[in-house]
Amino acid sequence: MGFSTIAIHAGNEPDTATGAVSVPIYQTSTYAQEGLGKHKGYEYARTQNPTRSALEKNIAALEGAKFGYAFASGMSATDAVLKLVKAGDHVLLGDNTYGGTYRLFARVLANYGIEFDLVDTTDISKVETAFKPNTKMVFVETPTNPVMSVTDLQAVSEAAHANGAKVVCDNTFMSPYLQQPLALGCDIVVHSTTKYLNGHSDSVGGFVALNDEEDAQWIQFIQNSVGAILSPMDSFLVLRGTKTLAVRMEAHDRNGRQVANFLAEHPKVLKVYYPGLVSHPQHELAKRQQKGFGGMVSFETGSLENAKKVLESVKLCILGESLGGVESLISHPATMTHASVPVEKRKTLGITDGLVRISVGIEDVEDIIADLDQALS
Ligand SMILES: Cc1ncc(COP(=O)(O)O)c(C=O)c1O
Repeated sequence: MGFSTIAIHAGNEPDTATGAVSVPIYQTSTYAQEGLGKHKGYEYARTQNPTRSALEKNIAALEGAKFGYAFASGMSATDAVLKLVKAGDHVLLGDNTYGGTYRLFARVLANYGIEFDLVDTTDISKVETAFKPNTKMVFVETPTNPVMSVTDLQAVSEAAHANGAKVVCDNTFMSPYLQQPLALGCDIVVHSTTKYLNGHSDSVGGFVALNDEEDAQWIQFIQNSVGAILSPMDSFLVLRGTKTLAVRMEAHDRNGRQVANFLAEHPKVLKVYYPGLVSHPQHELAKRQQKGFGGMVSFETGSLENAKKVLESVKLCILGESLGGVESLISHPATMTHASVPVEKRKTLGITDGLVRISVGIEDVEDIIADLDQALS
């Protein structure tokens, strides 16, 4: 079956009680039992909820995974995955992930004996030499947030597996429509469903998709033990969002390309970060590995004052954190999403004070370009 057919039907069977075509929001904390130990498979809503189960089936199917678990946020999904490693284990973390992912490693997990090293995963030789005898996991994001570096997922997976480590890919920027990490050899996919999967900037959530049964059982055990579950209402919203994922991603991709081309030719823009531009260092890899280039574009304005002027002059694009919604959002990574990354590290990654990031929405692209044009001038 094609992607859109799966998106619309997987997990979305009509309700057995009423025939409702949309999976109902089962807003309940518990379930009546017929007798001791006799129930319909639902005992307590932290453990199981039909709306959440429907979403879990849906996104797992979209990622080509056997198992999927929905969490309260992208960060709680990542945190659950990191409970697959133990004190004394070592993780290789891509050196340009979302700032909150870095913060989780540096400020939280480090206190529990999880060792980690940052590595430039765009250079496979650097990955190959970074393994330690206790390396159990490689955690990558591709394309990265916000400088859009692309990692070869197949090559990283081969290197990790040769060293007895698992590969986790944060697929938030691409969504399963544009990139399928499990098919490229990765072991686990994590998502912030807050972004493209939900797509309407009205829910915070996260997801873990994987094929290994033993790891899946542990993730489910963590989901129930810690309880960072996605609520029924949020599960419903994301389930509604994924039905239109393919059409939305096509539109984000189309608009993203046009905005990147416009910025690349603009005299006030010093540099554009977008894997769809031939000038991007991993353009060929992105073409091979992704179905499109998506709607995330960053650009260098040269200084904090210039960035501030652009960010405060836009009228259509909304100044704000987050990404992946139908509306165009514009942000300043150095002081917003990546404020928790040390200044020196930000500099080496290219996250300068003049860098601006746009999550290109699906409005009419002429209007987005006109807004950026007036803000730049
Ligand atoms: C790539 C990426 N991964 C993970 C997260 C964290 O997700 P959440 O905000 O849903 O916890 C974000 C948030 O911006 C992100 O951009």
